[in-house]
Amino acid sequence: MDLPRTPSFRLDGKRALVTGASSGIGLGAAVALAEVGAHVVCAARGMDRLTEAVAAMTKASMSAEALPLDVASFEECRAACAGAPFDVVVNAAGLARHSAALETRPEDYDAVMGVNLRGAYFLSTEAARAMLAAGQGGSIIHISSQMAHVGGIDRAVYCASKHGLEGMIKSMAIEWGSAGIRINSICPTFIRTPLTEQTFDDPDKVKWIEDKIKLGRVGEVEDIMGAVVYLAGDASAMVTGTSLLVDGGWTAE
Ligand SMILES: NC(=O)c1ccc[n+]([C@@H]2O[C@H](COP(=O)([O-])OP(=O)(O)OC[C@H]3O[C@@H](n4cnc5c(N)ncnc54)[C@H](OP(=O)(O)O)[C@@H]3O)[C@@H](O)[C@H]2O)c1
Repeated sequence: MDLPRTPSFRLDGKRALVTGASSGIGLGAAVALAEVGAHVVCAARGMDRLTEAVAAMTKASMSAEALPLDVASFEECRAACAGAPFDVVVNAAGLARHSAALETRPEDYDAVMGVNLRGAYFLSTEAARAMLAAGQGGSIIHISSQMAHVGGIDRAVYCASKHGLEGMIKSMAIEWGSAGIRINSICPTFIRTPLTEQTFDDPDKVKWIEDKIKLGRVGEVEDIMGAVVYLAGDASAMVTGTSLLVDGGWTAE
């Protein structure tokens, strides 16, 4: 009898672009993809931390290079994706400016939307444009949030950006599916990174988070790395237009 074959999780010979690769979840994604064999172009705005990250990856025998990129710039997204298409794009560039909805300033709204949604939008179109031109499929993965599925106090703008991202992904998946381009999101719960440092400094917030996460602990970057590898490669070949919640059960109730 012929047994079914487990798809490979390896990405040997593949090229990946990871934005936000100098810190937190993006750095975790870059390492995860490199460890399964991809060459990873690591992108962020600040070159100091990025260079340090790439040096550490190279020292650990991973194949990586640094690319300065502001995803809020359409021109920079276009330039980053020009030329040979990436097989995998992980967009982990993102920011948060939390405040009560009534206190949100237009400049905070524009900054969050400009990176989390507009940046994600045009990074996706430019990555897909190169894949389409080459007649090649690929996997585009956005680091969204559990806050794309629920609301959160002081998080109206952040939630709007992440809910918008989910709608964008569904629509792009419909448009690009026939070309073999998959686009999905990973929706983490609270993960310990520089972005959430302030939240974790507040014992009341930590208690709120630990009560809401059914697994009873906050997330670590390592909790996201397996999801990145899964969505990047053949194991998820039939998965597009959806989100993978890595939320410890936050949204289960
Ligand atoms: N940590 C969490 O609990 C959590 C939970 C759910 C979702 N997320 C999402 O996960 C993503 C990553 O968050 P994180 O916690 O890993 O944050 P982080 O540690 O603050 O890292 C953010 C990364 O994005 C880069 N970045 C920021 N703005 C950018 C831009 N305009 N263009 C290119 N790169 C940019 C930063 O480098 P430069 O500043 O040098 O550019 C840095 O490398 C975000 O989208 C966030 O919303 C995080």
